[in-house]
Amino acid sequence: MYRAPRGTSDILPQEQAYWRYIEQKAVSTTQLYGYERIDCPVFEGTQLFDRSVGEDTDIVEKEMYTFEDRGGNSITLRPEGTAPVCRAYLEHGMHNWPQPVKLYYLTSIFRYERPQAGRYREHHQFGCEAIGDSDPALDAEVIDLAWQLLYSLGLHRITLQINSIGCKDCRPAYLAILKEYYAHGTPDLCPDCQARVVRNPLRLLDCKNPQCQSVADAAPKSVDHLCPQCQEHFSRLKEYLGLLSLPFRINHRLVRGLDYYTRTVFEIQPEAEGSQTTILGGGRYDDLIEQLGGKPTPAIGFATGLERIVLNLKREGVPIPPLPRPQVFIVYLGDAAKAKAIKQTAALRRKNIGALTAPGGKSLKAQMRQANALGIHYAVIIGEQELQTGTMILRDMTTAEQQTIPGEQLEDWLTARR
Ligand code: HAM
Repeated sequence: MYRAPRGTSDILPQEQAYWRYIEQKAVSTTQLYGYERIDCPVFEGTQLFDRSVGEDTDIVEKEMYTFEDRGGNSITLRPEGTAPVCRAYLEHGMHNWPQPVKLYYLTSIFRYERPQAGRYREHHQFGCEAIGDSDPALDAEVIDLAWQLLYSLGLHRITLQINSIGCKDCRPAYLAILKEYYAHGTPDLCPDCQARVVRNPLRLLDCKNPQCQSVADAAPKSVDHLCPQCQEHFSRLKEYLGLLSLPFRINHRLVRGLDYYTRTVFEIQPEAEGSQTTILGGGRYDDLIEQLGGKPTPAIGFATGLERIVLNLKREGVPIPPLPRPQVFIVYLGDAAKAKAIKQTAALRRKNIGALTAPGGKSLKAQMRQANALGIHYAVIIGEQELQTGTMILRDMTTAEQQTIPGEQLEDWLTARR
């Protein structure tokens, strides 16, 4: 038997209510903040991600789905959504649009990870990018949007963590101090961290290995080594978050797993005990557009994994509005009634009323059972007698109450009960 590839899932009809609920809320919330939708290709030239996400990150080193196409080009299935949006910003001359350009996306993301709960090889992200302004008020607005989105979905047991990791002027000096700290008295680091000391020292701070955590806890903090501009930016950000009444905590070990971040980084985590999995993450990436060949253009954004939101909604028992079902099931007895049922079902659909009728030669009882199993509110029964008198029996499937009405009144009757 064929199975879905490891780390991927089919999203079955009974799960779809969660997905539509999140998508609709995401779109309506983002629109309140002036974002417009962008859709980029599922694959891009590999170099785009090498350059932006960073050659020394887990994503580029070991998680990308990269292949050569038939034309000999190196292609990569998108492992994140920010770099494609920046590529599109440059390709379409969006620096000529009013700044900041605010874009959102809903896309599938591919990472060759070790699958576990909340971690998949194909997942789906909702992301927002605000490109073209460095004001910390924009950082606060983006963080507010992220928070409001999760909160309005019904996730109330969440925490917001922020940090500043400086800019290209002040970070080198901080990294030197961090390396110096790690060079002395840290023999027990995990093999990954031993490599990070040389190649990507910032990532030492968010190592999940227990033996590395106490070392990281006591490490020099980036916020103590910011240049005056970054310091000013960070203190303004905290002030604005206060204005917006957002409850944040500064996490000195928050550095994010992609190399393009500058200054502000943030994550939203579930409070639930033992669930360490980030629901949403983002930050500033003031140098990325320039790295990709554009003019210096500051920017900030975030993304959240839809699968992780679904997991948290289920864990928290958040009630989800059901998807609309057809309102009526037309049940018939005999061939003549069947013809009437087919016509009536079509007529209702043309009037925008969801209607079903059973194909095949099912008994009356079996048709009623089907209507019940599908959770349809009303059944309409057409038999010999109803055909002759031009009437229909209407049954409320929730109360089992029945009444007979003239056939031509059906549409109005159903419309009044929508
Ligand atoms: P990220 O932290 O790598 O950031 O991913 C964003 C979110 O996607 C995570 O917080 C998590 O909810 C979800 N996620 C990541 N990996 C997986 C996975 N393997 N399975 C399920 N869910 C996952 C980014 O991708 C950045 N592009 C975010 C950003 C936008 N920064 C600025 N703008």
